[in-house]
Amino acid sequence: MTATELLAADAAGIARAAALLRAGELVGFGTETVYGLGADATNERAVAAVFAAKGRPRFNPLICHYPEAEAAFEDVEAPPVARRLAEAFWPGPLTLVLPRRPGCRVALLAAAGLATQAVRVPAHAAALALLRAAGRPVAGPSANRSGQVSPTTAAHVMAGLGGRIAAVLDSGPCRVGVESTVLDLSGGQPVLLRPGGATREAIEAVVGPVRLPEAAHAKGAPRSPGMLLSHYAPSLPVRLAARTVAADEALLAFGPPLDGAGAVFQLSAAGDVVEAACRLFAGLRALDAAGGVRAIAVMPIPATGLGLAINDRLRRAAAPRDDPAALA
Ligand code: TXA
Ligand code: MG
Repeated sequence: MTATELLAADAAGIARAAALLRAGELVGFGTETVYGLGADATNERAVAAVFAAKGRPRFNPLICHYPEAEAAFEDVEAPPVARRLAEAFWPGPLTLVLPRRPGCRVALLAAAGLATQAVRVPAHAAALALLRAAGRPVAGPSANRSGQVSPTTAAHVMAGLGGRIAAVLDSGPCRVGVESTVLDLSGGQPVLLRPGGATREAIEAVVGPVRLPEAAHAKGAPRSPGMLLSHYAPSLPVRLAARTVAADEALLAFGPPLDGAGAVFQLSAAGDVVEAACRLFAGLRALDAAGGVRAIAVMPIPATGLGLAINDRLRRAAAPRDDPAALA
């Protein structure tokens, strides 16, 4: 247990919160929508700690927060439609899902391995001051324990996450009170992934018709990972709980590696699930691209702490690709 600091949203509190973020600590912070659980998005361990603090049984991709559009567009591709939406809605309760740029600073774990990254600029003076002082993208899922409702006051955050995070920056109650609208711009037509603070009508007034996810997933629509699917899956078949490995298989190792694999990626030589979470998506991508192998064999990983989320992700990667449950 950590004693969670409750910080006033004045210059000293914002400076303290930014210093904690830069040191890899977790800080709850108010936005116009709901309180976010902030972490340095460029720090894989800080991002892993977000999933651990929320007690999320799986890795969902996280939104990154920026003080202005230009900072966001350093990390993601920004086609003209994204620039028009940023111009119209930022700062504000609209999150854009865009392709990650080469050299994207945001940890792959924050994107849950996807080729896309969700970004937004919140309309909230204290949040913007914090983001400026942090000087780097800040990952921020809603600051609640998994399965609980999103918090709209610092007291809600304290009740759910007190003792699990370094601090909460108390900027009073959130003005909007529902999460941001999530709009996927990584495919052809914009897809409304989550309704929220920015209305569909207001978005359509800027970009024309947007689709709902059901329509986007309809027969014949593109289904490549990183476009419309919300989860990354490697293209090679995945075999779980491997006790032996063949020469034509790539091995995702956890602890002392099995002998004989055609390629090896070590998640954590020491058998540390936090380190393994940080390296999971990079490992799947590396082995998928290894060449000369027909499958990825995964050594057993304990289902404790972040190991639960790692096993959930791997089970989905191993499920038959036509199984809709694996894509959920
Ligand atoms: O208002 C908000 O959006 C708040 C404040 C703190 O900014 N944040 C928030 O984050 O609600 P979270 O993690 O609770 O919700 C993020 C949503 C999830 O539904 C997630 O699946 C989706 O955004 N998302 C994030 N990255 C994505 C991606 N690359 N592709 C598709 N969906 C993504
Ligand atoms: Mg949430």
